[in-house]
Amino acid sequence: VAATAPANTEVAFAAAAASSGSEVVVPNGYVAEILYRWGDPCVAGSPAFAGDLSETSAVAEQQSGDNHDAINFFPFKNADGSERSDVGLLCINHEYLNAEYYYDKVVSDSTVTFTFEDARKGQAAHGVSVIEVMRNSNGTWTVNRNSTFNRRIHGNTPIDISGPARGNVLMQTAADPTGTRALGTLNNCGAGQTPWGTYITCEENFNGYFGWTDTTFTRNALEARYGLSQTGFGYRWHESDPRFDISATGNRNEPNRFGWVVEIDPFRPASTPKKRTALGRFKHENAELVIDPTTKKVVVYMGCDERFEYVYKFVSDAAYDENNMAANADILDAGTLYVAQFNDDGTAGDGVGVGVWIPLVHGQNGLTTGNGYIDQADVLIRTRQAASTVGATPMDRPEWLAANPNKPGEVFVTLTNNSARTAGQVNEANPRANNIYGHIIRINETNANAVGTTFDWNIFLLAGEPGQELFNSPDGLQFDRLGRLWVQTDGNFSNTGAYAGHGNNQMLVADLDAGTVQRFFVGPDGCEVTGVTWTPDMRTMFVDIQHPGEVGRHPNATNPATGMPYTEAELIANPTAFSSWPDGATASRPRSATVVVRRTDGGIIGT
Ligand code: FEO
Ligand code: CA
Ligand code: CA
Ligand code: CA
Repeated sequence: VAATAPANTEVAFAAAAASSGSEVVVPNGYVAEILYRWGDPCVAGSPAFAGDLSETSAVAEQQSGDNHDAINFFPFKNADGSERSDVGLLCINHEYLNAEYYYDKVVSDSTVTFTFEDARKGQAAHGVSVIEVMRNSNGTWTVNRNSTFNRRIHGNTPIDISGPARGNVLMQTAADPTGTRALGTLNNCGAGQTPWGTYITCEENFNGYFGWTDTTFTRNALEARYGLSQTGFGYRWHESDPRFDISATGNRNEPNRFGWVVEIDPFRPASTPKKRTALGRFKHENAELVIDPTTKKVVVYMGCDERFEYVYKFVSDAAYDENNMAANADILDAGTLYVAQFNDDGTAGDGVGVGVWIPLVHGQNGLTTGNGYIDQADVLIRTRQAASTVGATPMDRPEWLAANPNKPGEVFVTLTNNSARTAGQVNEANPRANNIYGHIIRINETNANAVGTTFDWNIFLLAGEPGQELFNSPDGLQFDRLGRLWVQTDGNFSNTGAYAGHGNNQMLVADLDAGTVQRFFVGPDGCEVTGVTWTPDMRTMFVDIQHPGEVGRHPNATNPATGMPYTEAELIANPTAFSSWPDGATASRPRSATVVVRRTDGGIIGT
């Protein structure tokens, strides 16, 4: 019997006001403390952050990466199996880097030399940190710098390729002719946590790291669909590291080895992570894993974050074994991947509809040899094309999905925004043209059956509407274990024009019955509020802040001397000109960081 959702009285705090300030804002009675910043030592023996960018790539591989994103707490356990709330492991994603703060050269200037060592140092900024953290007697938290669990997984860490695409011809490169072992994980955005104690980290915009140096190279349909381009997102790795030059001999398939969900066992620091290809290849946001209560099968809900891309779920073949954790180790290697079709229910315009999960199985629904799909591995490597073939519904950038722990079969998905949707492309599930604010959809599996193939859905909220807390671009989405839904934003924080009153990026908590939200946390200028996790006792919350001081997407970061947005060269000359978060007066530059949020009276967060 499903427990009822907590009443709104469970969410009791003085709402934080919108803010355009340079600091974190939390409600009265709460504190926010910095725990783990870009460059802080990760593994035992790591040097401290130099502050002057003098680290080599080898040192950067021992320190925290940049752009903290998803985060999950893995509690240590007592002898009786109960979970501890005072010590555990944090797994933290490092999504990308901000060149204006990461290098002492203007990377965007193609006349500036970019070396192999520069590329390797950039690759070190990416991946995952595993750190042991401990609560002190006064309630503050400390990283255990000497823990043997501490580990950096980065852009050159060996990772096994597992599941149906392992060894496939499209996974083979000159350096790995067997197509079984990749180097590195990149653009680690959202993530998920399994009940068998592993972390599943998601590779999102991997295409941005690749390019080609042979100007006669032309991309094929697969490369075009995943957004490969000659210069990528300007990282320039392909200029000096041939692995990222897809026109280099033997490297054409290297991008196919990215865009996967990667499983990491944080409690076995010597274990090799695995890319779980059965979960499909796309620009993965997060991976929300639930156990179907009836069949015990593992269900993973996932979004592909790009305009007009899709929502997916994976259902395992085998049942989860709660009495034998080792038996679940490779359960994500075999199952069925589905993509969602969101249809109207016959009453147009009410934001309510029905849906179908369409299997992406070779030989079914047009995924046939005759249509060019060779086998299941080929379907998975080309997941986006396969999903288009079967008629999935193009959405307004699916970001995180979150499953309600109090209501089996209920899942929410953030559609962050899509300014490219035209009036002619509006439909019941994506109801706004020029959707600059984004929305959240609530999915209910038919009869609460998470392994089934039909569902109902409704629009839970349209962001930016008058009469509610103002915010735009919902992105991170997570239920806590009390059943409250937390929403994080990655949007326009100019606080002017169409965004007036929204303030900086923030975190809100939703009332599931009313469809309203209340602001809990506001981040500093130029940041995005990304991952969130809690200790089992709900008395400590860990929140990630990425790219404080990022200028590129935010036109309000104006240099008063020029009246124009700060340039890369200006920020290299004066790295704290726009932001000095979180180090303040002692800052050498802004730094992404994990923040501890707790109540000064030690109480449960948000109650
Ligand atoms: Fe990395 Fe879609 O956010
Ligand atoms: Ca309808
Ligand atoms: Ca995101
Ligand atoms: Ca986003």
